[in-house]
Amino acid sequence: MPAIERLAAATRDKPLFSPDDVTVIFVLGGPGAGKGTQCAKLVADFGFKHLSAGDLLREEQDRPGSEFGEMIKSYIKEGTIVPMEVTVQLLENAMRHTIDTDNKKLFLIDGFPRKLDQAHAFEHSVVPSKFTLFFDCPEDVMQERLLKRGETSGRADDNMESIKKRFRTFVETSMPVVDEFETQGKVVKVSATKGPDEVYAETKEKLKERGLEPIKLTFVQN
Ligand code: C5P
Ligand code: MG
Repeated sequence: MPAIERLAAATRDKPLFSPDDVTVIFVLGGPGAGKGTQCAKLVADFGFKHLSAGDLLREEQDRPGSEFGEMIKSYIKEGTIVPMEVTVQLLENAMRHTIDTDNKKLFLIDGFPRKLDQAHAFEHSVVPSKFTLFFDCPEDVMQERLLKRGETSGRADDNMESIKKRFRTFVETSMPVVDEFETQGKVVKVSATKGPDEVYAETKEKLKERGLEPIKLTFVQN
């Protein structure tokens, strides 16, 4: 993935892309709500390009020579939100790369925007989102999933201490983003308590109501 070269994205005065040309659906939900799992299923059926803000930040953190590596590491460990200039620029770079190499213009942006300033900066300087897919899940269920994931994920933040902090950040900092989009009629809410397949069935149903259909593959038989 391209490195961050300049942090122009957050300061641009009009969006880089038109929403008529580039479609962005944000995917939000507390830590452990199943965003990544559902995104993988959506990619297979709908042909989205999946971009995870958390994955892009971890990649940048581990990139040799990154001037942001140490800073990102400490935010992730504390479960707080990395300054938006960095995250918005990483997403913009990844989108440009996808458009240039695959000519794909349908994006699922997972784990973003986690704070109002990120939401505003992205929509003003990159592209306004179509809507936000919000996976709603109680904390006890999310906690159990994260502790289980922590047995194998190798993530520095899948431990009880970081999980508690991430929950607080979600409620205090990220939910206001969902609430704001809700007032604009731009939230598609799915209950994420059940297993992956049941949650996905509801997700597909709700996307259909918003006019999104799975891509039908046609097999040609001789
Ligand atoms: O989405 P994920 O759980 O992978 O995010 C891990 C961490 O990355 C978050 O707890 C936060 O510290 C950071 N992050 C962020 N801004 C985002 C997404 C993730 O600061 N939009
Ligand atoms: Mg994830």
